Amino acid sequence: MTLRIGLIGAGVMGSGHARMIQTAVHGAELSAIAEGDAARRQALAQELGLEDRGLDGFALIRDPSVDAVVIASPDDTHAALTLAAIEAGKPVLCEKPLGVTEAECRAIMAAETAAGRRLVQVGYMRRFDPGYVALRQAVVDRRYGAPLFFHCIHRNKVAPPWMTSDMILTNSVVHEIDIARFVLGEEYAGITVVSPRATSAAPARQPQLVVMETEGGVVVDVEAFVDAQYGYDVRGELVCESGTSSLAPSQPTTARFQGQDGVVIDPDWIGRFADAYRLMLNAFVAAAGEGRSAGASAFDGYQATRIATAALTARSERRRVAVAPEDRPAFYD
Ligand SMILES: NC(=O)c1ccc[n+]([C@@H]2O[C@H](COP(=O)([O-])OP(=O)(O)OC[C@H]3O[C@@H](n4cnc5c(N)ncnc54)[C@H](O)[C@@H]3O)[C@@H](O)[C@H]2O)c1
Repeated sequence: MTLRIGLIGAGVMGSGHARMIQTAVHGAELSAIAEGDAARRQALAQELGLEDRGLDGFALIRDPSVDAVVIASPDDTHAALTLAAIEAGKPVLCEKPLGVTEAECRAIMAAETAAGRRLVQVGYMRRFDPGYVALRQAVVDRRYGAPLFFHCIHRNKVAPPWMTSDMILTNSVVHEIDIARFVLGEEYAGITVVSPRATSAAPARQPQLVVMETEGGVVVDVEAFVDAQYGYDVRGELVCESGTSSLAPSQPTTARFQGQDGVVIDPDWIGRFADAYRLMLNAFVAAAGEGRSAGASAFDGYQATRIATAALTARSERRRVAVAPEDRPAFYD
């Protein structure tokens, strides 16, 4: 059976997901698009051979032509749309973050638990990136001994104009908050945020350096610099007791060109994480077909938003914020 997917939000991420669903996802097809910008919606519908029905997100979720939902509209629209998908009993892949507040995420977990089945996947696609998956396996196997540090770098070429100092934590660093939990298999105990002098390249306060300690005593540090000018550059180095392991550059070749020797740097996340997006969408569809969910759960989405919120307090109050332990509910085991 083909899973008919309705897409909400046809910007950078939504268009990418739509093209991927139509070309590289097994057992699925796009059946409807909701997008507030009519020209953008019509262009994508035409490109993909769909009828433009002018549905809004909530009407799309209720529409009988939609079996499952992908949400790629802005962060502050995610929670209400995800709740509507749960109410309709339809599997939903919601782009990160799951919600912009802890309360929004808690409401989603409560609704999903009341529905009695796992319907929500959060678009933390790095959990499907082969590099991060290999780092996680190295930790599970204790291949290089017990982990001590996880050093992360998150640099974008140019931030969008809506990127604020807070969103660098809640919209960008939230990826590392999630992926370090995934790689290390541990929850956080505390968080601190410091910044050097601000770059003159952007109005938002950056770079920012986030330091998190896990309950097991691993230190995770994240440099977030989303106007780094030279390209999209995501790195991760795991330092363990008897060795280290790092994400390899994403390009399969090196080049010597115009007096330089090296790898081409990705311009943005679309190419760098293309495999991860494809694997994530395929996992979503396969899980939906079997009545289960894959990837980051609503609880994982909640934890990422909770820690990002603690980061905001740590930065504004210039202090270490302790993260209260919170058990994973049995529903999310
Ligand atoms: N997982 C990742 O790697 C990744 C990368 C970038 C962005 N994101 C997330 O994806 C989401 C979209 O980001 P983007 O970069 O594509 O933004 P974007 O601005 O390019 O696209 C968002 C689109 O949503 C539309 N929209 C706004 N409100 C809507 C509504 N209520 N219903 C339907 N459409 C609506 C806008 O018109 C716009 O076309 C964000 O939540 C962002 O955090 C995830």
